[in-house]
Amino acid sequence: MIEKKIISKRFDKIDPYSIADYIATGGYKSLAKAMAGQRINILSEVEKSRLRGRGGAGFPVAIKMMALAKEAALVKYIVCNADEGEPGNFKDRAIMEKDPHSILEGMIITAYATRATKGYIYIRCEYDKPIEIMRHAVEEARKNHFLGQKIDKIDFDFDIEIRLGAGSYVCGEEFALLESIEGKTGRTRVKPPFPTSVGLFGKPTEINNVETFANIPVIIGMGGDEFAKIGTKSSTGTKLLSLSGNVNNKGVYEIPFGVPIKTVIDELGGGVPDSRALKMVQLGGACGPIIPRYLLDMIIDFDRFDEFESKTGSGAIIVMDDRCDIFDILLRNVTFFKHESCGKCAPCREGHNQLERLLRKFVDRKATITDLISIESLARVMHQTSLCGLGQTSPTSIISTLRYFRDDYIDRLESLEV
Ligand SMILES: Cc1cc2nc3c(=O)[nH]c(=O)nc-3n(C[C@H](O)[C@H](O)[C@H](O)COP(=O)(O)O)c2cc1C
Repeated sequence: MIEKKIISKRFDKIDPYSIADYIATGGYKSLAKAMAGQRINILSEVEKSRLRGRGGAGFPVAIKMMALAKEAALVKYIVCNADEGEPGNFKDRAIMEKDPHSILEGMIITAYATRATKGYIYIRCEYDKPIEIMRHAVEEARKNHFLGQKIDKIDFDFDIEIRLGAGSYVCGEEFALLESIEGKTGRTRVKPPFPTSVGLFGKPTEINNVETFANIPVIIGMGGDEFAKIGTKSSTGTKLLSLSGNVNNKGVYEIPFGVPIKTVIDELGGGVPDSRALKMVQLGGACGPIIPRYLLDMIIDFDRFDEFESKTGSGAIIVMDDRCDIFDILLRNVTFFKHESCGKCAPCREGHNQLERLLRKFVDRKATITDLISIESLARVMHQTSLCGLGQTSPTSIISTLRYFRDDYIDRLESLEV
């Protein structure tokens, strides 16, 4: 059995509308444990756990927490990124729909440890059911004095507000998200300063992914050292995966880090339908690398994914069989990113137009060697010079296919002349 259910242990076993069910299954115990001790102990347990963010970039959570805790401001924010706009990702939705209080508990513990005063959960507006469930959970948490004033009868006030995104992909990027909560157009900011020093409304802010927060009660419950024993050296704990595309069993699965991608596809996904051949897999969503079959022995691990020069840690695995055309996929991706670019920086704003133009030539078999050289250099320039992760990672699928499927590009050339 390759699944390890820690974050998903309550999935389909409790009523997500019932705080009593959550409490009856050990919920809010970690909060009580955390508040019974020193704040510094919480930071130390999270540091020992070596938890890395689950929103994609895999940044160490303890570094953000400690940075926020050190800020002396009277107003500090905790923000939960529940935008989940990346095509191919749907694991945060599962946590919100099936175990909403685990997210709240993680946010409250984080707020207590860092002396944050208010929390926001930013959910994309298309997520009707998660919004309804999270709103209900916040109400129930308030009624049960886990949120509000003098939580657990001590001098700790913290409340959470739910904000809805308008369905813009770039609003999942942390600065665009903060701008959106502030009521502005969702565009990234120049960094530094980073959010932990100048974040929401100019105040110190810690922003983490839904799954990241859901890990906090687990770490406090079992202790950071125990948590760090799960997974691999560089990637501790478990990962929720969104498995989709040409597999028999699509869905959300939780595995410890270190399981090979192929095992996930074969054992959890039940393989490719109709006995077709697997051609390629895209990791992390539309902004992730597309890799060939022969690389599927690779294990799921943040450091292994680094070799694709991309942040693929959000956990999407999109399986494509031999009927899928690489250029069809690339064109769809680029058209999506072109539409979603906020337009603030030139490499992303102009670059996607040009990538789309060049890709169409490959689709129409009208490309030349010059087009091949142009697409490669443009993808690299965008990757290196865009202001935020959108333009930095959107060319990843092109960069990776140029590396692993170069012959497909050559086959599409109309002529070999420059
Ligand atoms: C274009 C873009 C979209 C993003 N969308 C999301 C998202 O939907 N959810 C998320 O948690 N992180 C998303 N991120 C990553 C966030 O910027 C940020 O790194 C993350 O919320 C930090 O949380 P973590 O450290 O817990 O992963 C996105 C980044 C970019 C560049």
